[in-house]
Amino acid sequence: DASDIEKGTYPHYMLKEMDEQPSVVRKIIQAYSNADGELTIDDNILEALKQADRLYIIAAGTSYHAGLIGKQYFEKIAGIPVEVHISSEFGYNMPLLSEKPLFIFISQSGETADSRQVLVRVKEELGYPALTITNVPGSTLSREADYTLLLHAGPEIAVASTKAYVAQVAVLAVAAYVAGKAAGRELDMDLKQELAIAANAIQTIVDSKNELEQIAEDYLKIARNAFFIGRNLDYYVSMEGALKLKEISYIQAEGFAGGELKHGTIALIEDGTPVFAIVSQEQVALNIRGNVKEVVARGANACIIAMEGLEEEGDRLVIPKVHSLLTPLVSVVPLQLISYYAALHRRCDVDKPRNLAKSVTVE
Ligand code: AGP
Repeated sequence: DASDIEKGTYPHYMLKEMDEQPSVVRKIIQAYSNADGELTIDDNILEALKQADRLYIIAAGTSYHAGLIGKQYFEKIAGIPVEVHISSEFGYNMPLLSEKPLFIFISQSGETADSRQVLVRVKEELGYPALTITNVPGSTLSREADYTLLLHAGPEIAVASTKAYVAQVAVLAVAAYVAGKAAGRELDMDLKQELAIAANAIQTIVDSKNELEQIAEDYLKIARNAFFIGRNLDYYVSMEGALKLKEISYIQAEGFAGGELKHGTIALIEDGTPVFAIVSQEQVALNIRGNVKEVVARGANACIIAMEGLEEEGDRLVIPKVHSLLTPLVSVVPLQLISYYAALHRRCDVDKPRNLAKSVTVE
């Protein structure tokens, strides 16, 4: 429906798509609920997950970052071992496969050539089952795989992926949760309820645009480079935050595991270097705060984004509390908006950044 993809009063698709994120999460809850109101996925997909002794997640870019989080979900919630691979590397760097692999392709567009070349090999040469998680029904990767899980995010037009990432993380959580339940695992969370809480938390953040614009101005207006750090799930979100900033503002940015900085990258910290630190994982909160002290001691301009309950005086942004496994759904949103405003301050073409296409259909 063409009216679905109108910008309406929005100056950019990216802004509209970020604003849609709470309703995307709610839509996913609805789309994956059965008549009894319980989370569910297609029986055949559940069976394929049950049969698999290992999952191989294949994806590129932002979808790869969602895959890293998906690995934790399938391992921690469903108890299934997972490997995550960049699709362009997989062809010539194929790991030794397990006996009963299930391949999971994560692709917003369902058209990424790098991922498709792996899917073709998996199906035609190796004969293994494949599941595609995509936003586009009928896309190439969906048609060529055995199974599809849809993201239900609605058309994503901006080159920088935002709502599709949130949808990917949410759908991966649903699939892992349903598989974990089916395997009879003791799950101490009600995912449906936790996703609804996360949707509200995202709403709070998209309603804080003035604050996020101010953060972009304070930290990135004249920056040449920026670092994003986190530990555990926050590390993966920091990689996604850095990619967003690079794509649309052209500021050189890297996401790092907090503990890894001291092994080299800390040499890049100078007076005023912006460092965004995410603090949403209680078991590593003190460690990441230690890393912040290390960079501040070398002159960094640190912006701490902490989850409610873990915040300390001096933190720049406090995000609402959500289940510890679902923090990526929420903590990514301020990073998206900060990138958006940084790009605006630099007068960049937010929706169509230079050198990039929405889907990369060449290998
Ligand atoms: C996301 O902001 C990027 N534009 C890009 O990394 C993208 O995620 C990647 O090309 C994969 O695309 P896909 O999800 O459509 O396969």
